[in-house]
Amino acid sequence: MKTNIITYGCQMNEYDTHLVKSELVSLGAEFVDTWQEADFVLVNTCAVRGKPVEKVRSLLGELRKAKEKRPLLVGMMGCLAQLEEGQQMARKFEVDVLLGPGALTEISKAIESRHKFWDLSFREELTHHLPPAPQGALSAFVSIIRGCNHHCTYCIVPTTRGPEVSRHPDLILREIEQLKAAGVVEVTLLGQNVNSYGKDQPGFPSFAELLRRVGQMGLPRIKFTTSHPVNFTDDVIAAIAETPQVCRYIHLPVQSGSNRVLRRMGREYRREWYLDRIRAIREAMPDVVLSTDLIVGFPGETEEDFQETLSLYDEVGYDSAYMFIYSPRPGTPSYKHFQDLPREVKVERLQRLIEKQKDWSYRQNQRWVGQTVEVLVRGAAKDESYAEGHTPGNHPTLVPAAQAPRPGLYPVLVKQATPHMLFGEVVGAQELATLPLMMA
Ligand code: SAH
Ligand code: SF4
Ligand code: F3S
Repeated sequence: MKTNIITYGCQMNEYDTHLVKSELVSLGAEFVDTWQEADFVLVNTCAVRGKPVEKVRSLLGELRKAKEKRPLLVGMMGCLAQLEEGQQMARKFEVDVLLGPGALTEISKAIESRHKFWDLSFREELTHHLPPAPQGALSAFVSIIRGCNHHCTYCIVPTTRGPEVSRHPDLILREIEQLKAAGVVEVTLLGQNVNSYGKDQPGFPSFAELLRRVGQMGLPRIKFTTSHPVNFTDDVIAAIAETPQVCRYIHLPVQSGSNRVLRRMGREYRREWYLDRIRAIREAMPDVVLSTDLIVGFPGETEEDFQETLSLYDEVGYDSAYMFIYSPRPGTPSYKHFQDLPREVKVERLQRLIEKQKDWSYRQNQRWVGQTVEVLVRGAAKDESYAEGHTPGNHPTLVPAAQAPRPGLYPVLVKQATPHMLFGEVVGAQELATLPLMMA
């Protein structure tokens, strides 16, 4: 069966796509690049903001039209599939297979049944599942915890992905072993709240302990995402600082700099706590790379509140940030109880925040100029005279293609930096993969 999977959303969805793909491979599926060539199209959906939902709606509309002209099996999985909003779409657009994020292990059954197959349960098998290592990849994700126990008032994720369930540490370590054997050099531990790891299962290690164990496995690069500030304890900071394999790169979503807004968002910390965590991180790792998520235009956010977000940005001086306009999501408390701000206000604030981000990213990226950093080169860039890769701090980096002919780890002397990229030259002829790690 010619199969095409289209993935929206976050890294958790990318990981799930890989999981489903490997199941489909064992059923003999052949993968094609576009849905137009496929007999089976599977859409892995996201519901976090209105935009990805609308993208799925228009894609499903097109797929339904295509179904009138030729036999086509259409599947929908992921977060939107779990919601009434997604199920209504599935009915309207005659989706054949619908799997919630907790039911992915049912994909083989769904395909074999070849007719309407819906499963929205949260299945335990998923936590015990061990997907095979992707072939030829240098970088891979490993899910360590699914779901979310927080109740941020704007967020649909706890509804779509259910409560937190940690995976058994042995399974995580086995998955990483397999990845290492397949040539992977960078692993990102994944979860909505990785630092809640272990709390739901008696006898499991804490996130800090898990980091230390993974650190001993001899992989050059370990990353993790996403962390919640409320659980970013001294213990976690010490584990990162003491484990050289863990990249000095921390993504710590703050969402807003105003305590009034944080309270209305249901975030369980305050500005002072967050800034204290940043202080502790910097004290332990002075050259750490920091990024965050920010929401602008949360209901009731005043100009003063927004100014506090800007001033928090200045106090931290982030290396980069993901910035979102608040998007009211049906089924969330803030959708129900709060009045959305006018779009112009939200857009204008986003623009000011983006200016702030560009300023800081430019300034922070300059600190690498003149330094040698380790770049994981993935392959040719859009402009094929360059190869592209990223540093341990996740900076996209370009080097002349001739200097990095194969994917791998290279020591790179940074020559130039923009707010978005580093440019450099490979120093020394050899790849770094087997050499001691150089941190950036
Ligand atoms: N669990 C992670 C992130 C989950 S979603 C965390 O808490 O950090 C990724 C990001 O999407 C969030 O950090 C938030 O900034 C953004 N987001 C979530 N819901 C949103 C909404 N309704 N509107 C705009 N942005 C939203
Ligand atoms: Fe959403 Fe908050 Fe959970 Fe993150 S911590 S997934 S923002 S509810
Ligand atoms: Fe989207 Fe679900 Fe991820 S809603 S951001 S795909 S957890």
